[in-house]
Amino acid sequence: MNDLSSLTDTLAEADRRHLIHPLHHPKDHLGARIFTEGKGAMLHTTEGREYIDGLSCLWNVNIGHGRQELAAAAAEQMGKLAYASAYAGYSNEPAIRLAERIVGLAYDNMAAAYFTTGGAESNESAFKFARYYWKRMGKPDKVKILSRSYGYHGVTMAAMSATRLAGYQKMFGPMVPEFLQVAPPYPYRWPGNGDAGIGAAEAVEQAILENGADTIAAIICEPVMGAGGVIVPPPTYFPALREICNRHDVLLIADEVITGFGRTGRWFALGHWGIEPDLMSFAKGVTSGYLPLGGVMVSKRIHQAIEDAPPDEKFMHAATYSGHPVCCAVALANIDIIDKEGLAHI
Ligand SMILES: Cc1ncc(COP(=O)(O)O)c(C=O)c1O
Repeated sequence: MNDLSSLTDTLAEADRRHLIHPLHHPKDHLGARIFTEGKGAMLHTTEGREYIDGLSCLWNVNIGHGRQELAAAAAEQMGKLAYASAYAGYSNEPAIRLAERIVGLAYDNMAAAYFTTGGAESNESAFKFARYYWKRMGKPDKVKILSRSYGYHGVTMAAMSATRLAGYQKMFGPMVPEFLQVAPPYPYRWPGNGDAGIGAAEAVEQAILENGADTIAAIICEPVMGAGGVIVPPPTYFPALREICNRHDVLLIADEVITGFGRTGRWFALGHWGIEPDLMSFAKGVTSGYLPLGGVMVSKRIHQAIEDAPPDEKFMHAATYSGHPVCCAVALANIDIIDKEGLAHI
């Protein structure tokens, strides 16, 4: 047995005994690759094998592996200020600069960003922003969240309840109440499917009418569905959906956790169809996966609702690592690279 295979065996045994993986089943994990290094689009394992990282890991390593600029940005920030609270009354320079930078890159109607540590937490936060907004507007019954078949929005409790891939829900029910699935037809584009976008948007309107617009806070959608099958919608879908949301006072949450930061050629994807969301979740590509970071961007009117709140209606949402200075410094360095190398063009 050579050194590499003995290292692999030792690690594999400790892994089997002590590490629970996402989507865990022991049979699925037999012969797991144990990664040791990454460079560009290539990954290396303990067995000395080299793999092409064709998926950019989990659709997140947008600038590739092994970028020393990001390691340097993390080390510099850790050496200066590794962590400080960003709860009201406190802030830090990387978080401020990152919020300003990404609001400038996003849709014109966006005003401010709240930071999280990943995609599911971003969507959880987006649902709370939506409910908060309607309560501030004097419409406390607008609480329901719509989502679409094959949508994936993460797997914490509320995010899982919006995720519409049955396997993720089966062993964890019951789901959070007031999360509803829109009936078919779905926003698919396939040959001969004509103007499927309009029909798919009308199904959302039907759900709004059946429940009553006064009960619906928001609909959450991926601009391009990822985990559900990499489904690019028909070009008519999002413009029609935006118009329906406007007509019925329903907020549109764009889940751009995978489509953000250059993955579709634009900084953010709904620009392909010329529309803007009310809330946008992001994660993954914001740091190209070098550190965990995510967030929600909110439109001017939602930001205004927070700014104008009386003290007893303040935005009581929080997380220890919201605005983490090291994650934000790495995100700034990552965005510099995406920008300089022209990985996102609009
Ligand atoms: C569209 C979308 N939303 C949310 C998530 C959840 O992100 P996370 O795994 O960081 O919680 C994912 C993860 O793949 C995703 O693809």
